[in-house]
Amino acid sequence: MNAKPARLENLHTDKGKVPVYATGIVAQPWDDYRDEDHAVWKALYQRQRDLLVGRAADEFLQAQDAMGMSPDQIPRFEDLNAVLEAATGWTIVGVEGLLPELDFFDHLANRRFPVSWWIRRPDQLDYIEEPDLFHDLFGHVPLLMIPAFADYMEAYGKGGVKAHGIGADALQHLTRLYWYTVEFGLIRQHDGLRIYGSGIVSSKGESIHCLDSAAPNRIGFDLERIMRTRYRIDSYQKTYFVIDSFEQLMDATRPDFTPIYARLAQQDSIPAGNVLETDAVFNRGTGEGWPTDGDV
Ligand code: PHE
Ligand code: FE
Repeated sequence: MNAKPARLENLHTDKGKVPVYATGIVAQPWDDYRDEDHAVWKALYQRQRDLLVGRAADEFLQAQDAMGMSPDQIPRFEDLNAVLEAATGWTIVGVEGLLPELDFFDHLANRRFPVSWWIRRPDQLDYIEEPDLFHDLFGHVPLLMIPAFADYMEAYGKGGVKAHGIGADALQHLTRLYWYTVEFGLIRQHDGLRIYGSGIVSSKGESIHCLDSAAPNRIGFDLERIMRTRYRIDSYQKTYFVIDSFEQLMDATRPDFTPIYARLAQQDSIPAGNVLETDAVFNRGTGEGWPTDGDV
């Protein structure tokens, strides 16, 4: 017999049924994952790992292995937490999905990373609009094993609380930094450019595009330049920014951003695909296939 409680049949559509505790945290309903859910994890895990060897930062791949992530089944948050907490003091907490900004910042500021407990359907392997378990766990969590990046994310959370108090412009500038580093960042390794951004590593198409395509710009990290740059949410990025190390990221973002926000408030934003004279250019994009509008 294969009778499943109704709630399990509705796992993807009935997200509201998982008990919610405090600040949006939910227990991972691990026993409720179906074979289909584990199969989605496995398909995505294997596909991305094969692709990412030689493309993702070595530290990222090593961290995934060190955490004990494997294609076999969806990991249990508590198993990952045992390793993660010992390594850098971070823990992951289950959530239904995107959180209000301030809640998200508060979690990060306290070294908690919110992870969507549900995974996409088999017909959504290539693209999903909302962050699901695969994006969050496979893409974000391994980076939290890297001490410098772990510190960066906590500092970002604290910076987010501060920016929220300053106003919408400050928040927008800070969000662009998150986008172009945490989600879509590239890093220069001894043997060439590699991926660390979570939005890239969880996407087959963008994992190839960001490194192999001549279309996008690849430009050296520059804090204020990034904070002025608009971005894409419905297509591959037109521009990727390259860091030299996670320590560089931490050092560049250590200063108080308050005067930076004040300065940026006087400046125009930069379209997602523009190259400036002051840019350190690794690749000047051909712009092939770029949508003409729609920068956020
Ligand atoms: N130093 C930043 C500030 O004062 C905080 C921050 C750190 C923001 C790291 C982003 C990343 O706001
Ligand atoms: Fe993300």
